[in-house]
Amino acid sequence: MELRTITTEDLPLWETMQCDPIMMAELGGPHPKEKIPQIFHNTMEYVNTGRGWVFKIMPDEDPERAAGSVCIWEHSWQGEPINEMGWMILPGFQGRGLASKAVRATLDKARAEGRWDVVHAFPGVTNAASNAICRKAGFSLLDECELDYAGRLLRCNHWRIDLRSDPPDSAGEGT
Ligand SMILES: CC(C)(COP(=O)(O)OP(=O)(O)OC[C@H]1O[C@@H](n2cnc3c(N)ncnc32)[C@H](O)[C@@H]1OP(=O)(O)O)[C@@H](O)C(=O)NCCC(=O)NCCS
Repeated sequence: MELRTITTEDLPLWETMQCDPIMMAELGGPHPKEKIPQIFHNTMEYVNTGRGWVFKIMPDEDPERAAGSVCIWEHSWQGEPINEMGWMILPGFQGRGLASKAVRATLDKARAEGRWDVVHAFPGVTNAASNAICRKAGFSLLDECELDYAGRLLRCNHWRIDLRSDPPDSAGEGT
């Protein structure tokens, strides 16, 4: 698996992921296709200004075909600046450990480069796979909360990892 920073060529990947009702089931439902260029423009702004890392995930078995994305970006939550992390894997690539690997690789890169000290993640409370990914990557579960995601209110688990002190895979790697 390889992580590659997205470019302007990746708009179709964003449309595939964010207009799919299954992919977006835990994220308030699919976005209308006409909203994707603006969403993608905002995402590219994070990349271009350095306020975000946005990677596409290239699987070993098909290295030129993106299987999904993993991102960390500066965000505001309850009036405080935070760093938030999120991930998506296309249905055809799910269930092979790809999201787990991509999340761990992104956190390892952040540690190695001294970027993104404290990182938060907010998977939906019913998103079993994403909550498992957080636990295995060494995030700690703080509590449940309501999160406004693109105008939709979601019931989420609030996970947090401090990359300066929490060891990698501290919470059950291999379980
Ligand atoms: C969540 C998502 C990224 C998982 O991708 P994936 O590559 O299939 O995940 P992995 O294969 O690394 O599996 C992660 C863990 O979840 C478990 N898992 C996978 N699918 C699951 C499911 N439907 N129900 C319960 N557990 C599941 C796996 O068994 C694995 O745990 P394990 O290592 O202890 O066995 C993918 O389903 C997705 O993109 N969903 C839609 C978008 C989304 O919800 N993103 C998260 C926003 S925070």
